[in-house]
Amino acid sequence: MKIRKFGVEIWMNKYETQCELNLAETCVESLTVAELLDMAGINDIAQQLHPLKLTYGEIEGSVRLRNLVADLYEKQKMENVVTTHGAIGANALVHQTLVERGDRVVSVLPTYQQHYSIPESIGADTQILKLTEKTRFLPDLEELKTMATPGTKLIAINNPNNPTGSLMDRAYLEKIVEIARDCGAWILCDEVYRGTDQEGELGMTASIADLYEKGISTGSMSKTYSLAGLRLGWIAGPVELIHAVSVHRDYNTISVGMLDDHFAAIALENKHKILKRSHEITRTNLAILSEWVDAEPLISWIKPKSGTTALLKYDLPISSEEFCIRLLKKTGVMFTPGSAMDMEGYLRIGYTNGEAVLREGLKRVSAFLREAASLAA
Ligand SMILES: Cc1ncc(COP(=O)(O)O)c(C=O)c1O
Repeated sequence: MKIRKFGVEIWMNKYETQCELNLAETCVESLTVAELLDMAGINDIAQQLHPLKLTYGEIEGSVRLRNLVADLYEKQKMENVVTTHGAIGANALVHQTLVERGDRVVSVLPTYQQHYSIPESIGADTQILKLTEKTRFLPDLEELKTMATPGTKLIAINNPNNPTGSLMDRAYLEKIVEIARDCGAWILCDEVYRGTDQEGELGMTASIADLYEKGISTGSMSKTYSLAGLRLGWIAGPVELIHAVSVHRDYNTISVGMLDDHFAAIALENKHKILKRSHEITRTNLAILSEWVDAEPLISWIKPKSGTTALLKYDLPISSEEFCIRLLKKTGVMFTPGSAMDMEGYLRIGYTNGEAVLREGLKRVSAFLREAASLAA
């Protein structure tokens, strides 16, 4: 099967280990094992782990963990949840399960590239719904109506959105549900950043699995819960869909590691503490970034409402890749070029990798911008 190269993943693989200040990171600053256990008040981890026999474990994910994941939703039960190798595994499984050659799939752009490149690789009639500043990076509903012709198989959205940080609220999602219902489409909503809203005590917006009988939500421990190293994600959706996914999952997953499952369960049993920490980081850091953007004449944006990233427009006559490579070489700061996500003319910043990293990184980017502007003048 031929498939396009995954722009962002290639960029991260190539440069992540070479940078000094990582402003390309999309996780809320990752936790150490010690920090997680400390938050959970666990001081007998060895006693918990030593008797564990390392089998494949419970194939669809432990009952303990699937119940905890179901609790993140309004209407989902354990039977509506299956664990996967990260949200990346969850998304791939959903596309693979639902999409066939010739099917119409509508995907927003920008988003995580899986959502349009996998359907394209399957030979689906993949329609791109461009998110623009005009609608503050929310899907244009009239345009979606035109694209979602009768018989459309799948509409893929991403809420909160990576890279723009835009957020569809419940009412907006319900409008998308109406459009999908009219044409009979499934909706896959990649909700890997759910729980990082700038407002609200829980910081969580409604989930598509709770709003639509053909709604599928994917999520993981990576971003909001700061535990990407667990490689633990999930799909939440109608039981029939979970069964259909399981047919494919048997071929490429078997199960998710027992240790990953165990630590994810510990984390979700303490989700309020983790969410509190995440909100402190995301909210403090977005305020810092916002001040910086206001003071930078060459940078403009639509300020994020959620997530961990922002899309910055820059006013310099160079490509985004050249910008990012020069920035990295001169200052040690890593951004992600818009070209890696089919958004030339933009830069993506991940602003939740620790306050000190952000402050120092932005200071260096300011100096870089001043020098680049004087060279361009
Ligand atoms: C929108 C989106 N979906 C999925 C993923 C994959 O996340 P995970 O680490 O859970 O596989 C990412 C990672 O950057 C992402 O940004």
